Amino acid sequence: MADIKKLLAEYAEGFNKKIAAFFSLPTGKERRAMEAMAYSVLNGGKRLRPFLMTETAKLFGKTPEETFPAAAALEMLHTYSLIHDDLPAMDNDDLRRGHPTCHKQFDEATAILAGDGLLTYAFEVLADSFYIDSVKMELIRLLAKGAGAYDGMVAGQMLDLIAETLESPENPTALINHIEEMKTGRLLRYAVMAGAIIGGASVQERQNLDVYAQKIGLAFQIADDILDETGNVEQMGKTLKKDASQNKLTFVSCYGLENAQKQAQKLVSEAIEALSGFHQSADVLRALAHFIIERKS
Ligand code: IPE
Ligand code: IPE
Ligand code: MG
Ligand code: MG
Ligand code: MG
Repeated sequence: MADIKKLLAEYAEGFNKKIAAFFSLPTGKERRAMEAMAYSVLNGGKRLRPFLMTETAKLFGKTPEETFPAAAALEMLHTYSLIHDDLPAMDNDDLRRGHPTCHKQFDEATAILAGDGLLTYAFEVLADSFYIDSVKMELIRLLAKGAGAYDGMVAGQMLDLIAETLESPENPTALINHIEEMKTGRLLRYAVMAGAIIGGASVQERQNLDVYAQKIGLAFQIADDILDETGNVEQMGKTLKKDASQNKLTFVSCYGLENAQKQAQKLVSEAIEALSGFHQSADVLRALAHFIIERKS
């Protein structure tokens, strides 16, 4: 089994050096927005989504350099989702990636603008990228959908906030599956799909990779729910045991810890099964599936 922690850490180091180049500061006072954007993007983060995209594209012989612009765009968009998720009007968190949240370090209005700036910048980076037009268009379209309010991350976040106001939701297990597939699953799914698009995967390969991505996307958020209960604050870099206090509907609140763990394990096995056509070239993706539920951070 590949030493996934080491591979991810090495990848993150290279990725961090390269993404920093996007954050040169304007000279006017408006630089504050860019400072807040840079603060949130450049301070920590596992870089799991970029790594996932890069490893998927590698299956088709593509280098990390060839995946980088799309990976950077996704990490910008993901970071925007974290900044807004942490705002007082949403989850009201003080700690993110081991540092004060963007609105604590700056102020709420600046954090809102930093999120807006990163969301927009992600699409600018894709539009300016070196991919051929057909690839670029597909990367842009799928990122917009995955992040969006119809069937994407924003829709999932909306349902997450509504669910926390309900005393006893109807059919909570169906609801939590739906929320987690959207609020977290869609962007992880995009990571894999973008790698497949950049790699020029066949329809069948895309389908199999998409099954893998759906399974690990859901497993990733189940693990996040479990870690909120059982994790270590220093390792996680965010305040824990908040889901229960905020009446969040989570896999843990619906199924209990043990059952949530079992479901995550089952999803990981199914994800790995979906990679059966890829032989050894997909060993890193297989190891990543295990890592997603065994991680401590
Ligand atoms: C946190 O994502 C938000 C969720 C979708 C659970 P990550 O756990 O990937 O956070 P970073 O990017 O490593 O900080
Ligand atoms: C957030 O889920 C998913 C996003 C779209 C950001 P959580 O609210 O559980 O993420 P954490 O625990 O704050 O990282
Ligand atoms: Mg949230
Ligand atoms: Mg949160
Ligand atoms: Mg959480």
